[in-house]
Amino acid sequence: MSKIKNIGVLTSGGDAPGMNAAIRAVVRASIYYDLQVTGILRGYEGLISGDFIEMDRKSVANIIQRGGTILKTARSDEFRTKEGRQKAYEQLKARNVDALIVIGGDGTFTGANLFTQEFDFPVVGLPGTIDNDLEGTDFTIGYDTAINTVINAVDKIRDTAESHDRLFIVEVMGRDSGLIALRSGIGVGAEAIMIPEANMGVDGLVTRLENGRKDKASKIIIVAEGDEVGGAFNVGEVLKEKFPAYDIRVSVLGHIQRGGKPSCMDRVLASRLGVAAVEGLLNGQSGEMVGLKNQEFVFTPFDHAIKHIDAKEISSVWLRLVEILSL
Ligand code: F6P
Repeated sequence: MSKIKNIGVLTSGGDAPGMNAAIRAVVRASIYYDLQVTGILRGYEGLISGDFIEMDRKSVANIIQRGGTILKTARSDEFRTKEGRQKAYEQLKARNVDALIVIGGDGTFTGANLFTQEFDFPVVGLPGTIDNDLEGTDFTIGYDTAINTVINAVDKIRDTAESHDRLFIVEVMGRDSGLIALRSGIGVGAEAIMIPEANMGVDGLVTRLENGRKDKASKIIIVAEGDEVGGAFNVGEVLKEKFPAYDIRVSVLGHIQRGGKPSCMDRVLASRLGVAAVEGLLNGQSGEMVGLKNQEFVFTPFDHAIKHIDAKEISSVWLRLVEILSL
């Protein structure tokens, strides 16, 4: 029999569509197992300051379809310190919270990993980030919605690019990871994709364009914001110099990629993982993220989940695909 009677839940780091569906699943699964649920506002910031709310089945009604997070989120500097984590632990003890579910990405799990080890406090994580850059799950909550947002936006850009015979450089999110760029780039039929994991460089891009078909009306280059070249505007400057005949425009998609209604894939993933996280805690799991790999639930230790996914292997295969498909 588990000693857990009260589960705290929080969202932390960059918000991601589907976080609300995950919160709903955690709350409803906890109630199903006769547990109390405590919502913690603004991630680790609220954990430290004791910004806690009681949650019941109604507090998560009508949120499965909403983007953002009803619990709000933050990136907490104080939780990076031992003193901050000590305060957080005291707040949990004072409110009789005996376990935590944290929904976020690598920053969230780095903090959770320290916390669970220092205080021997049960914590399970849910992968909530648009970047899809965690080990231990095929997809993170929010990624599917984000890449669909990207392709919907770039399809519109394609209309104007085609009408004006233009080359567009489109910057997508992913400071440390090119996985949004890779998948959405293939989805929009991009001419080239530039990501931090592959060193194409502007020279490589120039060669690609020189060797590419000249009679194409429109060209789309997708650049991940973390690319070593330094973003879409820099790439645009170089290309304008090298190809004065091209009519070049730059478009940075920015935070629209983090908002909006979650896709059905994200809602279902979040719902399944939310229930699995509660059941995992009750079965004694801790210090791990629950993910879905090949349709199986997998618990991965935090320090392994945050090993930044190496997209190098994926990228070489996929970037070849881009080359073949853009002929
Ligand atoms: O981790 C999610 C993410 O959207 C990254 O893709 C991006 O680099 C970063 O967060 C942006 O963070 P912020 O909203 O704090 O500028």
